[in-house]
Amino acid sequence: MLTQKLMIQKAFISLALIVPLWTQSSPDITTKGAEIFNARWVIPFLSKGSWGRGPHSNGESCVDCHHDGTNPYTRAVSNDEIQPMVLKIGNSNGKSSHPKYGNELSLFGITGKLPREGTFVLRWDKQKINRQFIDFPIPQVTELRFGELGTNTTISLRMGRNLTGIGLLGSIDEEQLKLIVAEQKKLGLNGRINYVIDPITRKTKVGRFGYKASSPSLSDQISKAFRDELGVTSRSYPSNPCAATLEICTSLNNVGSVEVSKEKIIALAEFLTTTKPFAKNNKNITWGTGKNYFEKVGCHFCHRTDLNVNASTNTGTTHIVTLYTDLLLHDMGGGLNDGFNEFQAQPEDWRTTPLIGTGEHLRSGGSLLHDGRAKTVDEAILWHGGEAISARDNYLSLKPEHKKLLQSFVKSL
Ligand code: HEC
Ligand code: HEC
Repeated sequence: MLTQKLMIQKAFISLALIVPLWTQSSPDITTKGAEIFNARWVIPFLSKGSWGRGPHSNGESCVDCHHDGTNPYTRAVSNDEIQPMVLKIGNSNGKSSHPKYGNELSLFGITGKLPREGTFVLRWDKQKINRQFIDFPIPQVTELRFGELGTNTTISLRMGRNLTGIGLLGSIDEEQLKLIVAEQKKLGLNGRINYVIDPITRKTKVGRFGYKASSPSLSDQISKAFRDELGVTSRSYPSNPCAATLEICTSLNNVGSVEVSKEKIIALAEFLTTTKPFAKNNKNITWGTGKNYFEKVGCHFCHRTDLNVNASTNTGTTHIVTLYTDLLLHDMGGGLNDGFNEFQAQPEDWRTTPLIGTGEHLRSGGSLLHDGRAKTVDEAILWHGGEAISARDNYLSLKPEHKKLLQSFVKSL
């Protein structure tokens, strides 16, 4: 059974933020979800394992791209496996996928039967921000096997990352988000809900998942991941994109058959909503001072320090998790413009990244921002432009020791 949401309301200082309480999740279903998350999917009839991968894919398992420590810096030029990086492809209006290549460039086909769609390498360039030169990657597509991308196409580089507790984003309700939007307007910020079309019901819903919040529910995001990353069909997405001729594709695609069951998607969603009991933050005076600086410079207008949810742990107990996001889209300025639209999200718009788990991710070698370009918290802040420009400038005007305290606070999350 999927966890039931029990709404308990709690008032916060400036906003009535709702704290949903999750009833205890079943450790059984969470364990099953963890197994599916780690499962290796294989091409039908070729080897043993969970059947259904392909014909095109970008990995064998969710865990290939979603773990701590992910970053694009260790990827050698022309390395076949550029995981956890993914190259999204879209029509320049961002509303539809590419007629041949689908939603992303697939690096794997089926040996001897179907070539991969192509590959990409990262060229690194530098941008000068506040007298510092910092690296950013420019993806370059090579070895396209099914024709050119065409002029009406845009590409966007995205990094997979640890997903601990990501499902908790589903528990913040729309009314709460509207309150935050209104509050931000008064502060001169322009946080917006990304209203998206639910692919199943065709109804307009709040977008929550993905770097531009273009997916309305965790089960939708998971079903899409099965299709786009693994080439595994589900009830919601019963066919896989395939770039070859209809004849070849039909012979390789199990059209109509559902390769991952609804029960497995529910178990995965449960797993991604349950969190490990977090190590207790060492909330000493230094931590408190770091948090004060975080709030003093205005980071918390978007990375909210008061948006809390009660989460279940994998052992069945509950605890409070602060998400450090507002779930809204913000114009982050030209430095982070990827030329890509997703529903109402424009090229410069990104969903405020929840900062939970940042510390563990950095400690295990991970990097930050949607394409992993920032090696440190300091670099991530430097890339903040647009609506976040005054928070960045306030940060830059801090004394070095106060910047360090703020950084340590972020690294403790
Ligand atoms: C080849 C790499 C890759 C594989 C394999 C992969 N993902 Fe992802 N995943 C990504 C990337 C990249 C993103 C960011 C997508 C975006 O926002 O455009 C993402 C985003 C997500 C998100 C949304 C995270 C957020 O911040 O809202 C979820 C949930 C997710 N993936 C689940 C899964 C599951 C479940 C599987 C296995 C069925 C899976 N992924 C397999 C690369 C991968
Ligand atoms: C106007 C809203 C806004 C403000 C203010 C803001 N941020 Fe962000 N922050 C974002 C968005 C949106 C992203 C995602 C950008 C991307 O991935 O390209 C982000 C990303 C980040 C990341 C990277 C997280 C990751 O895991 O990739 C860090 C770290 C961060 N912000 C810290 C801060 C700090 C510290 C401050 C204050 C100096 C701050 N932010 C102020 C909106 C904001």
